[in-house]
Amino acid sequence: EKGGFEHFMLKEIYEQPKSIHDTMRGRLLPEEGIIKMAGIWDHMEKFRNAKRIIIVACGTSWHAGLVGEYLIEEFARIPVEVEYASEFRYRNPIINKDDIVIAISQSGETADTLAALKLAKANGAFIYGICNVVGSSIARLTDAGSFTHAGPEIGVASTKAFTSQLTILTLIALKLGKHNGNLSNEKFMSLCYELESLPTKVEKALKTDALVQEISEVYKDAKNALYLGRGYNFPTALEGALKLKEISYIHAEGYPAAEMKHGPIALIDENMPVIVIAPKKGHYDKVVSNVQEIKARKGQIIAVVTEGDEQVKNIADHVIEIPDCSEEFSPILASIPLQLLSYHIAVMLDRNVDQPRNLAKSVTVE
Ligand code: M6R
Repeated sequence: EKGGFEHFMLKEIYEQPKSIHDTMRGRLLPEEGIIKMAGIWDHMEKFRNAKRIIIVACGTSWHAGLVGEYLIEEFARIPVEVEYASEFRYRNPIINKDDIVIAISQSGETADTLAALKLAKANGAFIYGICNVVGSSIARLTDAGSFTHAGPEIGVASTKAFTSQLTILTLIALKLGKHNGNLSNEKFMSLCYELESLPTKVEKALKTDALVQEISEVYKDAKNALYLGRGYNFPTALEGALKLKEISYIHAEGYPAAEMKHGPIALIDENMPVIVIAPKKGHYDKVVSNVQEIKARKGQIIAVVTEGDEQVKNIADHVIEIPDCSEEFSPILASIPLQLLSYHIAVMLDRNVDQPRNLAKSVTVE
């Protein structure tokens, strides 16, 4: 059932060209100039009048939510807040009738996320679910929603569910932006066509596997690691660090690259691997200067860059190339080598990759 792969996690990493395609199937219709999503379309008035969207989630799904914030604010210009479900539910949050609360959950069973939604519902908010498991508790509770259709995810470390969450959030943001007039038809169409080519690009990103395995060999005995990114790839950094922590048990932290100078830069020495997500778009020049600052302090730099990159390549110890894409889609492509990095290190350390210690696939305890 692992399809010839040694672990479910690796199988699921490799399934991503297909799972992302499945998330878009029947929804992304560029030839017709539309994105079809009944959950959004049937409630367009609600979305159009929403003063605010609050995203609640835990773990990897919360990281997807952070990317969702950037996407929805960028394309649809609706204010978004992203909250850990566990914090939201216990802090007497302000919830208004014209708020939309979106829960993101692979399993649809996470206790804190479910409780956060119940609270939002009780306060009159419209509640929307982004779940992978059809028929799950969150899917049943919500007023509307969209399934990610990534297929069953068995490995405790979330991989394909995450990239499908990012895909669905992109579709939602584009659809909202198109219908509330914030996104020109031209931009909408070009992003739709680019989205259509994403599975092929993910396929290419998977080709970094052998190189990532070599890099893993070099850093497998590290005691700590730092992951840095800016903009859309700040959440990618958080997610990369979480993957390494949960399956290899190596302490890792994700940080917005610009925050380095406010403290974490003191950690950098020749023993600190620093994984920098530095695709050509967005704040590339700023990331390049962050990379220089790390090198000046002798940090070991592993950079995820756009193919053909020269600038970062000249400074970094290792570069992993991903295909060129719009900034908004780069977390999907950049996450692939980061998943592989944590996977290979965990295998080399002989960890229980699919069932890491102390963790369960769905966290139904509060
Ligand atoms: O099923 P959910 O998406 O609600 O799960 C949330 C987290 O428990 C989950 O993403 C967890 O962080 C993963 N093990 C991360 O790989």
